Amino acid sequence: MQLNTEVMLAKIKDSQWALADIDWDAPGAELVTENPELYAKLKPFMADLMWIEHVGARGFAAMAKKAPDDTLKEIYTYFHAEEQRHANAELALMKRWGMLDGDELPEPNINIRLVVDWLDTYADDQPLAVLGSVIPMLEIALDGALCKFLLETVDDPVCHEAFKKINADEARHLGIDFHVLEMLGHGPIYRNGIKAVGTALNPKLLIGFLAYLPLLNRMRDNVISLGLPEEKLTGAMRKYKKIGNTKYGRRNPWFQVIAHHGEIVINRGNHFYHRPVDALVKLSDHYPRRLLRPLPTWFKQLTWRPTV
Ligand SMILES: [Fe+2]
Ligand SMILES: [Fe+2]
Repeated sequence: MQLNTEVMLAKIKDSQWALADIDWDAPGAELVTENPELYAKLKPFMADLMWIEHVGARGFAAMAKKAPDDTLKEIYTYFHAEEQRHANAELALMKRWGMLDGDELPEPNINIRLVVDWLDTYADDQPLAVLGSVIPMLEIALDGALCKFLLETVDDPVCHEAFKKINADEARHLGIDFHVLEMLGHGPIYRNGIKAVGTALNPKLLIGFLAYLPLLNRMRDNVISLGLPEEKLTGAMRKYKKIGNTKYGRRNPWFQVIAHHGEIVINRGNHFYHRPVDALVKLSDHYPRRLLRPLPTWFKQLTWRPTV
């Protein structure tokens, strides 16, 4: 899935939007606020979704630093800003639905928090191959499945208007994600393999996996408890393998690792995997908060206020 990055960059520049483009006070909020059952479920869902946008934003910021050429660097810089815009739009929706008190921001769940901590500490040290292979999985599985679910569940027209813009951005993200995933498979297989092994031995990366694995299981449990059929999530995860499995993409060892891991995650019958990872999810609830780094400075840039 190779595309012309120059053309893509021009398209990205052309499709920039701002929170101010949307009338956040337009009628329709009562479709959520007057539905107590939906309302109660939606609040924690939106908080998680908003934080996942930030995981994406942080990932793209790290990618921008590693980008192999200036066009991709600029694209990733735009994507970083776009993910932050998505988070802000989701905050604006929460504000519209009366889910926020003043400027208070929702707390992320502990597993998202641990991933954010890891990203802030180590992401910039990770090679492009790792980030470039894991980001498409996060985007297709979490972002993709969650955004679709939201639109199927919520009728508020303002929510649909915002997500039309968000999803148009996401389609471009996925285009570039899979373009880069394939690009990472170019060059002799053995060289890629050697690089991959070298990185796998990196302890910082292992800590990252310890944060990533329970996040997937926690999100699976969260979305199922919200009523998202599990097959939707697993279907989204399968797409990663389907789209990424191109002539060159499959030579990228990180693609193989992540696709294979995705299959294990989908298979609930694999107790060797799920028991310890589910235990990690439970254990992370007891993770001492004092060990968490203070929320990163970019946290302060979050706002539901539609500034232009
Ligand atoms: Fe996003
Ligand atoms: Fe994205």
